[in-house]
Amino acid sequence: MRTEVLTIDSLCPNPVAITRAVEVLRSGGLVAFPTETVYGLGADARNAAAVRAIFAAKGRPSNNPLIVHVADATGARLLTTFWNDAAEQLAARFWPGPLTLVLPRGNIVPDAVTAGGSTVAVRVPAHPVTLALLRAAALPVAAPSANRAGSLSPTLAAHVLASLDGRFDLLLDGGSTARGVESTVVDMTTHPPRLLRPGPIALADLKRVIGPINRGGAATDDRDAPLPSPGMSRRHYAPRTRLECVERNGEARVQLLRKEGHKVGWLALADVAAIPSVRVIAMPLEPAAYAARLYAALHELDAASLDVIVVSLPPRTDEWLTIHDRLSRAAAD
Ligand code: TXA
Ligand code: MG
Repeated sequence: MRTEVLTIDSLCPNPVAITRAVEVLRSGGLVAFPTETVYGLGADARNAAAVRAIFAAKGRPSNNPLIVHVADATGARLLTTFWNDAAEQLAARFWPGPLTLVLPRGNIVPDAVTAGGSTVAVRVPAHPVTLALLRAAALPVAAPSANRAGSLSPTLAAHVLASLDGRFDLLLDGGSTARGVESTVVDMTTHPPRLLRPGPIALADLKRVIGPINRGGAATDDRDAPLPSPGMSRRHYAPRTRLECVERNGEARVQLLRKEGHKVGWLALADVAAIPSVRVIAMPLEPAAYAARLYAALHELDAASLDVIVVSLPPRTDEWLTIHDRLSRAAAD
């Protein structure tokens, strides 16, 4: 299959490109598009065959359910059998935005989307391209991140092509994604609700709106168990190159590895002095800016044929929760 690529203005999406994407979705094809978090690989969520094609393209285990993207809260409600006050309040406050709500699944959602489970994850993305596409297509779009299963999420069209070129129909290239990490996922079917995946919307901000929320469940590596949340497997969002996280600055570790003859990359915090023959990327010291840059930096280091990437960990405070979550999964064996 040849993957068609159309450039699209991310602020003012070209209607011709949107029309082409709608055509592909309506005919059961796969479209990769930018969202405010990462690029997604989408299909008509009502079409089980199209949804199965997403799993095939990604090499994704079929027990990993997908998020369904809709244009507004009304569209989300149509996919569930029970829409409670808390869901209403979170939707009103954070949609469109990087928040995914897990709710009891309605009948129009096929098993392929939910991995046979009784719940469905829904989100209204805050990207002009995604919203234009969802409105024009007038259908719910199931979309995981547009990368091979288990690997780094894409924040640029080039990342999508490097991972999946030739495995899907159309890519809308809208440049880099603003948030850079995947949406916050909250399970609204438990009391109190449960944070399944930390993300751009902070736990504290969710709690301010609906009160108590439990922190996620245990990570699982049991491949046959229905996953409470695939993002909770211990290794996920990982580069191919070995990743080593170090508390504090990490320069000593980088120097040691280099002296031992390893080819080293260093994801450093803020500006550090250059080290001969070491690929250094200086990351911002602010969590949102760090998140926006994280996957692109890891993609870049991963492409540099290194033996190891040393990551200087940010502070262990709540505002860095999402970054620690993604880094620890990327570093897991
Ligand atoms: O920001 C995002 O969420 C991106 C963009 C494309 O929207 N999508 C994304 O999808 O990250 P994916 O497939 O890579 O991650 C799906 C996550 C899982 O880790 C899991 O937490 C959750 O969605 N999920 C989906 N359906 C679920 C369900 N029924 N119950 C619990 N968790 C579910
Ligand atoms: Mg993913």
